[in-house]
Amino acid sequence: MCGIVGYIGERGAQGVLTSGLRRLEYRGYDSAGIVTLGANNQATLLRAEGKVSELDKLVLSHENKDTVGIGHTRWATHGEPSETNAHPHKAGDIYLVHNGIIENYKELKAELKNHSFESQTDTEVLVALVDSLYDKETLLVDAVTQALKLVVGTYGIAVVSTREPDVIIVARMGSPLIIGVNDDETIIASDASALVGHTDQAIYLNDGEIAVCRRDGVELQDMSAQPISTRVETIEVDMQAIQKQGYDHFLLKEISEQPVTLRSTLSGRVNVEDKLIKLGGLNLNTEELRGIEHVTIIGCGTAYYAGLLSSYYLEQLVDGLTIDVATASELRYRSFHLPKNTVALVVSQSGETADTLACLREIKRRGVKTLGIINAVGSTIAREVDGGVYVHAGPEISVASTKAFTSQVAAMIMFGIQIAQAKGVGVQDTSSYIEELDQLPNEIEAVIANYKEQISAIAKRYAHYDHALYFGRDTLFPVALEGALKLKEISYIQAEGYAAGELKHGPIALVDDTFFEVALLLDNWLFDKSLSALSEVNARGGHVFAITNSKKEIDAEETLRIDTKLDLLAPIVINVVQQLFAYYVAVARGNDVDQPRNLAKSVTVE
Ligand code: AGP
Ligand code: GLU
Repeated sequence: MCGIVGYIGERGAQGVLTSGLRRLEYRGYDSAGIVTLGANNQATLLRAEGKVSELDKLVLSHENKDTVGIGHTRWATHGEPSETNAHPHKAGDIYLVHNGIIENYKELKAELKNHSFESQTDTEVLVALVDSLYDKETLLVDAVTQALKLVVGTYGIAVVSTREPDVIIVARMGSPLIIGVNDDETIIASDASALVGHTDQAIYLNDGEIAVCRRDGVELQDMSAQPISTRVETIEVDMQAIQKQGYDHFLLKEISEQPVTLRSTLSGRVNVEDKLIKLGGLNLNTEELRGIEHVTIIGCGTAYYAGLLSSYYLEQLVDGLTIDVATASELRYRSFHLPKNTVALVVSQSGETADTLACLREIKRRGVKTLGIINAVGSTIAREVDGGVYVHAGPEISVASTKAFTSQVAAMIMFGIQIAQAKGVGVQDTSSYIEELDQLPNEIEAVIANYKEQISAIAKRYAHYDHALYFGRDTLFPVALEGALKLKEISYIQAEGYAAGELKHGPIALVDDTFFEVALLLDNWLFDKSLSALSEVNARGGHVFAITNSKKEIDAEETLRIDTKLDLLAPIVINVVQQLFAYYVAVARGNDVDQPRNLAKSVTVE
C-alpha cells in the first residue's frame, strides 16, 4: 500500500531514490529498501526495517554512482516488518518492488519449487514467478507480462534485471503509479510528491498497462503486449494536496477510500457464489471453531465500539454463543472470569495500544485463545496473539479512526460466519450476511457520492453547538456511541451516545437549546420504538438530526434518508454518514482535523 520510486537516467540513482522515498513517508510504512544496478551486472541491494533514515545509513556505507534503481517503503500486509520482508525482493537476476496484495500468492508459491523463499511476503512469490518465466530468450517485459496474467490481486510494481540494466518495467493494477519524464531520465513513483523538483511532465499509468522505461523515453503496452500511445501530462504538484491525493485532510481521504480498503479486507476471504468465508491465520481448525462457546471482545475507543457492534452480529449468527465486550482499560483491572471454550478477540488498528496489549497478556496468562483483529501487520499485539485476521485497511494517518472501524466490523462478521458454518449452521442462514458484506463497499461508495454535499450542509447547521446527544437502538446503539466519539474527538463538542431506550431514564433532562440530537433509525422492527424516543426529545424542544434508511414519516429538524440496499449491515453505512458529519462539523469549527488537540494516533501509554 505504500511507496514506490524508480530512476533511470544520468544522475546518481541512490540519491533520487532515497529522497523520493522520504517524500512518501507520510503514507505510513514500516521498512524501506532500494536496489541500484551498476557496471558488470552488479546490483547493490540495501534494505532496513524502520524509517528511511535507517536506509540512509546503509547508503552512506555503500555509496555508488549507479544510475538505475528502484526503491520502496513497505506497509506490511503479508509478513511482519523486517529487513527480510522489506522490498526490493530478488529472484535470479530480477529485483521487484510492489504495492498491493497478491491474493493468490499461496497457490502460485506452491508451483514455484525452484525458488528458495527467504521472506513471508506475497511479493517474493511475484518476483519468483517472473524469474520462472525469464529464460535467456525472453525479455524482462515479456516475463513480467506473462507473470501478471497469472496474478489475482492488486499491484503497482517496478522491476529491474541485471541482465537488462537499461530498462525499468512498471505495471499497475489497482495501486497507482506515475512516470515522470525528462529528456535524459525517467522517474517512477507511486504518487506525484516524489516527482517534485525533478519534472512536471508525467504519464499516469492506468490499470492493466505496462511501461518499459528507458533514459530517453517510455513505451506503454497492454497485457497483450499491444502498444498504447503515451500521454504525457503536466502535473500540478502541490505537495500537501498530493500527499492527501487531493483531499483537504487525511481524514476525508480515509473516509472516502473505505470502499477500496474494505474490498481489501474482504478480498480472497468472501466467496459469494459458494456462500463461504475463508479466513486464513485464525490457527483454529474446524473442530476448535465448532467448540467455541463464548467470545470476549476487547479494545479501546473506536476499536471497542467496533467490537460492540460486531457482538450484535455474532449473536445473530451463532445460536447459543455468549459474548461479552469490554474496554481493555477496565477489563485489565477487573477480577474477571472467562468461561471455558472462550476465544478472545483483540481489536486494535495500531496493534500497539498499551491497555489492549496489557489485557491481551493477562488473558493469555489464563490460557485463553486470543485472536487479533488488527490493521498494522507485525505490530506488538499482532505478534502476541495466537492467530487472527489482518484487516488490510492500509495506513490510517488521521488520529480519528474511520476505515479501520469498518474493516474491523467486517472482519468480525466474517469470523462469526466462519464459526456458524463450522457449527453446521445452514449456509442459507449466513448467506444474507455474505451477500451484504459483498455489497457493502459499493453501498458505502454510493452513500459518500450521493450524500456528501447534503451532510456537509447539515453539519454547518449544527457546528455552533457545544453539546450533542446521539441515540439509537440495537445495532445502532454502538453506532451512536461511535458517532459521538467521532464528533467529540475532532470537533470538541461534548457529545454522548446513548441507547435510545435509555434517554427517558435521565439524559432527556439535558434537552434544551444548547443541545442538538442525532437520532439513528433503522427501517426494521424497532423503527417505531426509535421514533418514540425521537418524539420524546422533540416534545421537549430538541433539535433533532435524524439519519435513517427508512422512507417512513419522521418529524425532525433535519432528516437524512439514505437509500441503501442493505438491511443487516445498514448500520455500517449509517456510521459512514456520521463520519462525514463529524468531519464537516470539525472543519466548520476550524479545528486541526487530522491531529486533534490532546490526542495521539496510537496510545502506547496507560
Ligand atoms: C478513535 O478515533 C480514536 N483514535 C481512539 O479511540 C482509538 O480508537 C483507540 O485509541 C484505539 O486505538 P487502536 O485501535 O489503535 O488500538
Ligand atoms: N503485500 C506486500 C507486502 O506485504 C506489499 C505491501 C505494501 O503495499 O507495502 O510486502
